[in-house]
Amino acid sequence: MSAIENFLNKVICGDVLQVLREIPDNSIDLGITSPPYNKKEKNGGWLVSRVIYKGFKDSMPEEEYQAWQVEVLNELHRVIKQGGSFFYNHKVRYEKGKMIHPLEWLSKTKWDLWQEIIWNRKIAGNIRGWRFWHVDERIYWLVKGKPKELKPEHAKLTSVWEIRPETGHKDHPAVFPLELPVRIIYSILGQEKGVVIDPFCGTGTTLVASKLLGKDYIGIDISEEYVRYAQERLAQAHKERQAVLREIALHTTELTFKERKSMGLWNKRSSR
Ligand SMILES: C[S@@+](CC[C@H](N)C(=O)[O-])C[C@H]1O[C@@H](n2cnc3c(N)ncnc32)[C@H](O)[C@@H]1O
Repeated sequence: MSAIENFLNKVICGDVLQVLREIPDNSIDLGITSPPYNKKEKNGGWLVSRVIYKGFKDSMPEEEYQAWQVEVLNELHRVIKQGGSFFYNHKVRYEKGKMIHPLEWLSKTKWDLWQEIIWNRKIAGNIRGWRFWHVDERIYWLVKGKPKELKPEHAKLTSVWEIRPETGHKDHPAVFPLELPVRIIYSILGQEKGVVIDPFCGTGTTLVASKLLGKDYIGIDISEEYVRYAQERLAQAHKERQAVLREIALHTTELTFKERKSMGLWNKRSSR
């Protein structure tokens, strides 16, 4: 195992588990990721273009996929500091008429589930009528011990996030909109320094957000092509500052929790 300094501000090309196993215990403040969803290319859908990655096939027997995700999440639990958080983006999937819910495997990990955030992407992946159009994904806020309380300007942002999907990076099929990791990093770390990891970093969106917010980052991806893309993107990160400013502008409030309480606007003890 090497010192954490050897990993900082790098995009590492390799298998997620192999790289994570090299990272020391309790060394990272915050993690954000969207893993491959095991979408199985053969079921790619007939209207929207298929989610096809360069460098690996997103197709495993479901049981194997879930066991892999549990192993990755437990390794992430080891490297995150006590009191640290991990934001895990996934979605409800359907296979042969049956719902597959992320809680099926999240409940088998060492993480405590702090909040389920609904990401309303406002577009559906298909136009058939078997179910109401499926426009949401989920972001699971996972914690290792008790996290710090959010400041009021972040907490008032609600648990439904209306952020449209990114369309600007055509070389990758599943890129985060930059606002999403900016919201998480700014809310959790604020002005503090810290290390942020994205273990399936793709085009490096989480890393760009970390860099623009003055945090250290660690990215891992198995595809050489995406790692190169992320490195080039990071070198030009200043060009993406506008999206950061747009997101930060949403984090405002006139009153602190204490002021609201003293004015009688909030007198019940809220549940943790
Ligand atoms: C959903 S994408 C992440 C996209 C990213 N959030 C972004 O904004 O570009 C998942 C990524 O996981 C990577 N991946 C798949 N298997 C992997 C493995 N075993 N180890 C590391 N990365 C892997 C893929 O190459 C892909 O870029």
